Amino acid sequence: MATVETRSLTKRFDGTTAVDGISLAVREGEFLVLLGPSGSGKTTLLRMIAGLETPTSGDVLVGGRIVTGLPPWAHNMAMVFQSYALYPHLTVADNIAFPLQAQHVAHKTIASKVGWAATLFGIDHLLTRKPRQLSGGERQRVALARAVVRDPVAFLLDEPLSNLDAKLRASARDELQQIHRRLGTTTIYVTHDQIEALALGDRVAVLDHGGMRQLDTPQHVYANPVDRFVATFIGSPPMNLIARDNVETGFRPEHFLPREVFDGNVQLELLLLNITRIENLGADRLVYGLLEPPQPPVKVISRIPCTVSLTLQAGTRHLFAVRRADLHRFDALSGASLGAAPDSP
Ligand SMILES: Nc1ncnc2c1ncn2[C@@H]1O[C@H](COP(=O)(O)OP(=O)(O)O)[C@@H](O)[C@H]1O
Ligand SMILES: [Mg+2]
Repeated sequence: MATVETRSLTKRFDGTTAVDGISLAVREGEFLVLLGPSGSGKTTLLRMIAGLETPTSGDVLVGGRIVTGLPPWAHNMAMVFQSYALYPHLTVADNIAFPLQAQHVAHKTIASKVGWAATLFGIDHLLTRKPRQLSGGERQRVALARAVVRDPVAFLLDEPLSNLDAKLRASARDELQQIHRRLGTTTIYVTHDQIEALALGDRVAVLDHGGMRQLDTPQHVYANPVDRFVATFIGSPPMNLIARDNVETGFRPEHFLPREVFDGNVQLELLLLNITRIENLGADRLVYGLLEPPQPPVKVISRIPCTVSLTLQAGTRHLFAVRRADLHRFDALSGASLGAAPDSP
Protein backbone atom coordinates (compact mmCIF):
# COMPACT_ATOMS: atom_id res chain seq x y z
CA MET A 1 0.00 0.00 0.00
CA ALA A 2 1.34 3.44 -0.91
CA THR A 3 0.57 6.85 -2.28
CA VAL A 4 0.34 7.18 -6.05
CA GLU A 5 1.02 10.49 -7.70
CA THR A 6 1.13 11.89 -11.22
CA ARG A 7 2.88 15.14 -12.10
CA SER A 8 1.91 16.95 -15.32
CA LEU A 9 1.40 13.53 -16.88
CA THR A 10 0.86 13.75 -20.63
CA LYS A 11 0.38 11.20 -23.39
CA ARG A 12 0.18 12.11 -27.04
CA PHE A 13 -0.58 9.58 -29.75
CA ASP A 14 0.13 11.00 -33.20
CA GLY A 15 -2.49 13.71 -33.57
CA THR A 16 -4.41 13.21 -30.29
CA THR A 17 -3.52 14.29 -26.79
CA ALA A 18 -5.05 11.45 -24.79
CA VAL A 19 -3.89 12.73 -21.39
CA ASP A 20 -3.12 16.40 -20.99
CA GLY A 21 -0.88 17.37 -18.07
CA ILE A 22 -2.71 15.63 -15.23
CA SER A 23 -1.37 16.13 -11.70
CA LEU A 24 -3.08 14.20 -8.95
CA ALA A 25 -2.06 12.63 -5.66
CA VAL A 26 -3.89 9.56 -4.44
CA ARG A 27 -3.62 9.19 -0.69
CA GLU A 28 -2.57 5.98 0.99
CA GLY A 29 -5.60 3.71 1.29
CA GLU A 30 -7.81 6.08 -0.67
CA PHE A 31 -10.49 4.98 -3.14
CA LEU A 32 -10.14 7.48 -5.97
CA VAL A 33 -12.50 7.40 -8.95
CA LEU A 34 -11.55 8.68 -12.41
CA LEU A 35 -14.82 9.73 -14.02
CA GLY A 36 -15.24 10.92 -17.59
CA PRO A 37 -17.00 10.21 -20.87
CA SER A 38 -15.65 7.67 -23.33
CA GLY A 39 -12.44 8.94 -24.92
CA SER A 40 -11.57 11.33 -22.07
CA GLY A 41 -8.26 9.56 -21.38
CA LYS A 42 -9.14 7.40 -18.36
CA THR A 43 -7.64 4.14 -19.62
CA THR A 44 -4.51 5.84 -20.95
CA LEU A 45 -3.95 7.56 -17.59
CA LEU A 46 -4.41 4.27 -15.74
CA ARG A 47 -2.06 2.41 -18.09
CA MET A 48 0.66 5.04 -17.54
CA ILE A 49 0.21 4.71 -13.77
CA ALA A 50 0.60 0.92 -14.15
CA GLY A 51 3.71 1.33 -16.29
CA LEU A 52 2.02 -0.29 -19.30
CA GLU A 53 2.24 2.92 -21.33
CA THR A 54 5.21 5.30 -21.50
CA PRO A 55 4.27 8.95 -20.86
CA THR A 56 5.16 11.57 -23.46
CA SER A 57 6.08 13.82 -20.54
CA GLY A 58 5.53 14.13 -16.82
CA ASP A 59 6.08 11.65 -14.00
CA VAL A 60 4.49 8.84 -12.05
CA LEU A 61 5.47 8.47 -8.38
CA VAL A 62 4.78 5.49 -6.15
CA GLY A 63 5.34 5.99 -2.43
CA GLY A 64 7.09 9.26 -3.29
CA ARG A 65 9.59 7.59 -5.65
CA ILE A 66 9.66 8.40 -9.37
CA VAL A 67 8.96 5.25 -11.41
CA THR A 68 8.41 6.90 -14.80
CA GLY A 69 9.79 4.74 -17.59
CA LEU A 70 10.42 1.74 -15.33
CA PRO A 71 8.77 -1.55 -16.30
CA PRO A 72 5.34 -2.53 -14.86
CA TRP A 73 6.81 -4.76 -12.12
CA ALA A 74 8.57 -1.73 -10.63
CA HIS A 75 5.23 0.08 -10.41
CA ASN A 76 3.82 -3.04 -8.67
CA MET A 77 0.17 -2.27 -9.38
CA ALA A 78 -2.57 -4.83 -9.97
CA MET A 79 -4.80 -3.84 -12.86
CA VAL A 80 -8.22 -5.31 -13.59
CA PHE A 81 -9.54 -4.64 -17.07
CA GLN A 82 -13.10 -4.33 -18.27
CA SER A 83 -12.64 -7.55 -20.27
CA TYR A 84 -11.21 -9.41 -17.21
CA ALA A 85 -8.60 -11.01 -19.51
CA LEU A 86 -8.75 -14.43 -17.84
CA TYR A 87 -6.79 -17.32 -19.34
CA PRO A 88 -9.48 -19.54 -20.91
CA HIS A 89 -7.47 -22.78 -20.70
CA LEU A 90 -6.65 -22.37 -16.99
CA THR A 91 -8.91 -23.21 -14.05
CA VAL A 92 -10.10 -20.50 -11.69
CA ALA A 93 -7.45 -21.55 -9.16
CA ASP A 94 -4.68 -21.36 -11.75
CA ASN A 95 -5.93 -18.03 -13.04
CA ILE A 96 -5.77 -16.58 -9.53
CA ALA A 97 -2.37 -18.20 -8.90
CA PHE A 98 -0.89 -16.99 -12.19
CA PRO A 99 0.80 -13.76 -10.98
CA LEU A 100 2.34 -15.65 -8.04
CA GLN A 101 3.62 -18.48 -10.24
CA ALA A 102 5.16 -15.85 -12.50
CA GLN A 103 7.01 -14.53 -9.43
CA HIS A 104 8.14 -18.06 -8.44
CA VAL A 105 6.41 -17.91 -5.08
CA ALA A 106 6.55 -21.17 -3.05
CA HIS A 107 3.73 -23.67 -3.76
CA LYS A 108 2.41 -23.69 -0.21
CA THR A 109 2.21 -19.89 -0.10
CA ILE A 110 0.41 -19.87 -3.45
CA ALA A 111 -2.18 -22.40 -2.28
CA SER A 112 -2.96 -20.46 0.89
CA LYS A 113 -3.12 -17.10 -0.93
CA VAL A 114 -5.43 -18.49 -3.61
CA GLY A 115 -7.68 -19.92 -0.89
CA TRP A 116 -7.71 -16.61 0.97
CA ALA A 117 -8.53 -14.53 -2.14
CA ALA A 118 -11.19 -16.99 -3.33
CA THR A 119 -12.89 -16.86 0.08
CA LEU A 120 -12.66 -13.06 0.12
CA PHE A 121 -14.65 -12.89 -3.14
CA GLY A 122 -16.93 -15.85 -2.39
CA ILE A 123 -15.69 -18.02 -5.26
CA ASP A 124 -13.96 -20.80 -3.30
CA HIS A 125 -16.51 -23.34 -4.66
CA LEU A 126 -15.54 -22.51 -8.27
CA LEU A 127 -11.78 -23.14 -8.11
CA THR A 128 -11.75 -26.14 -10.48
CA ARG A 129 -13.92 -24.54 -13.18
CA LYS A 130 -12.75 -22.91 -16.40
CA PRO A 131 -13.71 -19.28 -17.18
CA ARG A 132 -16.28 -20.34 -19.80
CA GLN A 133 -18.21 -22.20 -17.07
CA LEU A 134 -18.67 -18.97 -15.09
CA SER A 135 -21.22 -16.15 -15.17
CA GLY A 136 -20.10 -12.59 -15.88
CA GLY A 137 -20.22 -11.72 -12.20
CA GLU A 138 -18.13 -14.77 -11.27
CA ARG A 139 -15.52 -13.98 -13.91
CA GLN A 140 -15.26 -10.46 -12.57
CA ARG A 141 -14.59 -11.86 -9.08
CA VAL A 142 -11.88 -14.15 -10.40
CA ALA A 143 -10.19 -11.16 -12.01
CA LEU A 144 -10.39 -9.24 -8.73
CA ALA A 145 -9.10 -12.24 -6.73
CA ARG A 146 -6.16 -12.50 -9.15
CA ALA A 147 -5.47 -8.81 -8.55
CA VAL A 148 -5.35 -9.05 -4.75
CA VAL A 149 -3.11 -12.14 -4.32
CA ARG A 150 0.17 -10.45 -4.97
CA ASP A 151 -0.04 -7.60 -2.45
CA PRO A 152 0.19 -4.79 -4.97
CA VAL A 153 0.82 -1.23 -3.80
CA ALA A 154 -2.43 -0.23 -5.47
CA PHE A 155 -5.39 -1.61 -7.40
CA LEU A 156 -6.18 -0.10 -10.75
CA LEU A 157 -9.68 -1.04 -11.88
CA ASP A 158 -10.76 -0.07 -15.40
CA GLU A 159 -14.58 -0.17 -15.63
CA PRO A 160 -14.61 -3.57 -13.89
CA LEU A 161 -18.39 -3.68 -13.50
CA SER A 162 -19.48 -2.48 -16.93
CA ASN A 163 -20.16 -5.98 -18.26
CA LEU A 164 -22.59 -6.78 -15.44
CA ASP A 165 -26.32 -6.17 -15.52
CA ALA A 166 -27.73 -3.30 -13.43
CA LYS A 167 -28.76 -5.34 -10.39
CA LEU A 168 -25.49 -7.27 -10.20
CA ARG A 169 -23.59 -3.99 -10.62
CA ALA A 170 -25.24 -2.53 -7.53
CA SER A 171 -24.35 -5.55 -5.37
CA ALA A 172 -20.81 -5.74 -6.82
CA ARG A 173 -20.38 -2.05 -5.97
CA ASP A 174 -21.38 -2.74 -2.39
CA GLU A 175 -19.00 -5.69 -2.21
CA LEU A 176 -16.06 -3.75 -3.66
CA GLN A 177 -16.56 -1.09 -1.04
CA GLN A 178 -16.56 -3.65 1.77
CA ILE A 179 -13.44 -5.35 0.43
CA HIS A 180 -11.69 -2.02 0.09
CA ARG A 181 -12.54 -1.26 3.68
CA ARG A 182 -11.15 -4.62 4.80
CA LEU A 183 -7.92 -4.56 2.73
CA GLY A 184 -7.36 -0.80 2.84
CA THR A 185 -5.40 -0.89 -0.41
CA THR A 186 -5.02 2.34 -2.40
CA THR A 187 -7.44 2.01 -5.31
CA ILE A 188 -7.91 3.93 -8.55
CA TYR A 189 -11.22 3.09 -10.16
CA VAL A 190 -12.18 4.15 -13.68
CA THR A 191 -15.79 4.60 -14.76
CA HIS A 192 -17.95 6.64 -17.15
CA ASP A 193 -20.92 6.10 -14.82
CA GLN A 194 -21.45 9.10 -12.56
CA ILE A 195 -23.70 7.18 -10.15
CA GLU A 196 -20.95 4.60 -9.65
CA ALA A 197 -18.39 7.38 -9.15
CA LEU A 198 -20.44 9.22 -6.54
CA ALA A 199 -21.31 5.98 -4.72
CA LEU A 200 -17.78 4.56 -4.53
CA GLY A 201 -15.26 7.36 -4.45
CA ASP A 202 -13.61 8.90 -1.41
CA ARG A 203 -12.79 11.50 -4.04
CA VAL A 204 -13.71 11.81 -7.70
CA ALA A 205 -11.47 13.19 -10.46
CA VAL A 206 -13.56 14.39 -13.40
CA LEU A 207 -11.81 14.07 -16.78
CA ASP A 208 -12.69 15.61 -20.11
CA HIS A 209 -10.62 15.65 -23.30
CA GLY A 210 -7.56 14.39 -21.42
CA GLY A 211 -7.67 17.15 -18.81
CA MET A 212 -8.74 17.00 -15.18
CA ARG A 213 -11.59 19.42 -14.55
CA GLN A 214 -12.14 18.83 -10.83
CA LEU A 215 -10.87 16.63 -8.01
CA ASP A 216 -12.94 16.58 -4.87
CA THR A 217 -15.32 14.58 -2.67
CA PRO A 218 -18.50 13.33 -4.39
CA GLN A 219 -20.61 15.71 -2.30
CA HIS A 220 -18.51 18.70 -3.26
CA VAL A 221 -18.26 17.85 -6.96
CA TYR A 222 -22.05 17.52 -7.04
CA ALA A 223 -22.82 20.66 -5.03
CA ASN A 224 -20.02 22.92 -6.30
CA PRO A 225 -19.08 21.97 -9.86
CA VAL A 226 -16.21 24.14 -11.11
CA ASP A 227 -17.62 24.42 -14.61
CA ARG A 228 -20.53 23.67 -16.90
CA PHE A 229 -19.02 20.36 -18.04
CA VAL A 230 -18.80 18.94 -14.51
CA ALA A 231 -22.21 20.42 -13.63
CA THR A 232 -23.99 18.72 -16.50
CA PHE A 233 -21.99 15.47 -16.63
CA ILE A 234 -22.80 14.66 -13.01
CA GLY A 235 -26.45 14.36 -12.03
CA SER A 236 -29.37 12.64 -13.68
CA PRO A 237 -31.47 14.16 -15.13
CA PRO A 238 -28.77 16.73 -15.82
CA MET A 239 -28.69 20.27 -14.47
CA ASN A 240 -31.04 22.70 -16.25
CA LEU A 241 -29.34 25.66 -17.97
CA ILE A 242 -30.76 29.01 -19.03
CA ALA A 243 -28.59 31.36 -21.11
CA ARG A 244 -29.12 35.03 -20.27
CA ASP A 245 -26.67 37.60 -21.67
CA ASN A 246 -23.17 36.29 -20.95
CA VAL A 247 -24.19 34.12 -18.04
CA GLU A 248 -25.69 30.67 -17.96
CA THR A 249 -27.82 29.98 -14.92
CA GLY A 250 -28.04 26.36 -13.82
CA PHE A 251 -30.28 24.54 -11.38
CA ARG A 252 -30.69 20.87 -10.63
CA PRO A 253 -34.06 19.21 -11.30
CA GLU A 254 -34.53 18.36 -7.61
CA HIS A 255 -34.14 22.06 -6.67
CA PHE A 256 -36.68 23.19 -9.27
CA LEU A 257 -40.07 22.63 -7.63
CA PRO A 258 -43.61 24.00 -7.63
CA ARG A 259 -43.78 27.37 -5.83
CA GLU A 260 -46.13 25.93 -3.17
CA VAL A 261 -43.40 23.61 -1.89
CA PHE A 262 -41.26 26.47 -0.51
CA ASP A 263 -42.03 28.39 2.63
CA GLY A 264 -42.14 32.15 2.59
CA ASN A 265 -38.79 32.92 4.18
CA VAL A 266 -36.39 31.88 1.44
CA GLN A 267 -35.25 33.98 -1.50
CA LEU A 268 -36.68 32.41 -4.63
CA GLU A 269 -36.22 32.72 -8.35
CA LEU A 270 -39.71 32.28 -9.82
CA LEU A 271 -40.10 30.56 -13.18
CA LEU A 272 -43.37 29.98 -15.01
CA LEU A 273 -43.43 26.53 -16.58
CA ASN A 274 -45.51 25.29 -19.48
CA ILE A 275 -45.75 21.59 -18.59
CA THR A 276 -45.38 19.31 -21.62
CA ARG A 277 -45.01 15.86 -20.06
CA ILE A 278 -45.01 14.09 -16.71
CA GLU A 279 -43.24 10.82 -15.93
CA ASN A 280 -44.15 8.97 -12.79
CA LEU A 281 -41.12 7.03 -11.53
CA GLY A 282 -42.51 5.85 -8.21
CA ALA A 283 -40.18 7.63 -5.81
CA ASP A 284 -40.18 10.78 -7.97
CA ARG A 285 -42.17 12.54 -10.64
CA LEU A 286 -40.25 14.04 -13.54
CA VAL A 287 -42.00 17.09 -14.94
CA TYR A 288 -40.82 18.26 -18.37
CA GLY A 289 -41.69 21.66 -19.70
CA LEU A 290 -40.78 24.88 -21.45
CA LEU A 291 -40.05 28.09 -19.58
CA GLU A 292 -42.44 30.95 -20.33
CA PRO A 293 -41.47 34.59 -20.98
CA PRO A 294 -39.65 36.61 -19.76
CA GLN A 295 -37.33 33.56 -19.76
CA PRO A 296 -36.05 32.16 -23.04
CA PRO A 297 -38.15 29.13 -24.10
CA VAL A 298 -35.75 26.55 -22.69
CA LYS A 299 -36.63 22.91 -22.02
CA VAL A 300 -36.23 22.13 -18.32
CA ILE A 301 -36.94 19.25 -15.97
CA SER A 302 -38.25 19.21 -12.43
CA ARG A 303 -37.83 16.22 -10.16
CA ILE A 304 -40.53 16.16 -7.52
CA PRO A 305 -40.37 13.61 -4.69
CA CYS A 306 -43.51 11.47 -4.31
CA THR A 307 -44.00 13.00 -0.86
CA VAL A 308 -45.24 16.13 -2.68
CA SER A 309 -48.78 15.18 -3.68
CA LEU A 310 -49.68 18.35 -5.60
CA THR A 311 -51.73 17.83 -8.78
CA LEU A 312 -49.92 18.81 -11.96
CA GLN A 313 -51.06 18.27 -15.53
CA ALA A 314 -49.44 18.29 -18.92
CA GLY A 315 -50.73 21.12 -21.10
CA THR A 316 -51.12 23.52 -18.17
CA ARG A 317 -48.96 26.35 -16.79
CA HIS A 318 -47.66 26.24 -13.26
CA LEU A 319 -45.46 28.54 -11.22
CA PHE A 320 -42.20 26.86 -10.21
CA ALA A 321 -39.28 28.17 -8.19
CA VAL A 322 -35.64 27.59 -7.23
CA ARG A 323 -34.03 28.84 -4.03
CA ARG A 324 -31.54 31.51 -5.08
CA ALA A 325 -28.92 29.71 -3.00
CA ASP A 326 -29.35 26.69 -5.28
CA LEU A 327 -28.66 28.59 -8.51
CA HIS A 328 -25.31 28.06 -10.23
CA ARG A 329 -23.86 30.57 -12.64
CA PHE A 330 -21.42 29.84 -15.45
CA ASP A 331 -19.58 32.09 -17.88
CA ALA A 332 -21.41 31.48 -21.17
CA LEU A 333 -18.16 31.49 -23.14
CA SER A 334 -15.68 29.56 -20.99
CA GLY A 335 -18.19 27.57 -18.94
CA ALA A 336 -16.28 28.41 -15.75
CA SER A 337 -18.35 28.68 -12.59
CA LEU A 338 -19.07 32.24 -11.45
CA GLY A 339 -20.28 31.03 -8.06
CA ALA A 340 -23.76 31.26 -6.60
CA ALA A 341 -26.26 33.90 -7.67
CA PRO A 342 -25.80 37.30 -6.02
CA ASP A 343 -28.53 38.20 -3.54
CA SER A 344 -31.29 40.24 -5.07
CA PRO A 345 -31.70 43.69 -3.53
N1 LIG B 1 -2.95 3.27 -28.69
C1 LIG B 1 -3.58 4.38 -29.10
N2 LIG B 1 -3.26 4.96 -30.28
C2 LIG B 1 -3.86 6.09 -30.70
N3 LIG B 1 -4.81 6.74 -30.01
C3 LIG B 1 -5.18 6.22 -28.81
C4 LIG B 1 -4.59 5.02 -28.30
N4 LIG B 1 -5.16 4.76 -27.09
C5 LIG B 1 -6.05 5.74 -26.86
N5 LIG B 1 -6.07 6.61 -27.89
C6 LIG B 1 -6.92 7.82 -27.98
O1 LIG B 1 -6.75 8.57 -26.80
C7 LIG B 1 -7.99 9.10 -26.34
C8 LIG B 1 -8.27 8.62 -24.94
O2 LIG B 1 -8.52 7.23 -24.98
P1 LIG B 1 -8.78 6.35 -23.67
O3 LIG B 1 -7.68 6.60 -22.70
O4 LIG B 1 -9.00 4.96 -24.10
O5 LIG B 1 -10.13 6.99 -23.12
P2 LIG B 1 -11.24 6.40 -22.12
O6 LIG B 1 -10.64 5.24 -21.40
O7 LIG B 1 -11.58 7.55 -21.24
O8 LIG B 1 -12.40 6.01 -22.98
C9 LIG B 1 -9.02 8.69 -27.36
O9 LIG B 1 -9.18 9.74 -28.28
C10 LIG B 1 -8.39 7.48 -28.02
O10 LIG B 1 -8.86 7.32 -29.34
MG1 LIG C 1 -11.33 3.26 -21.26
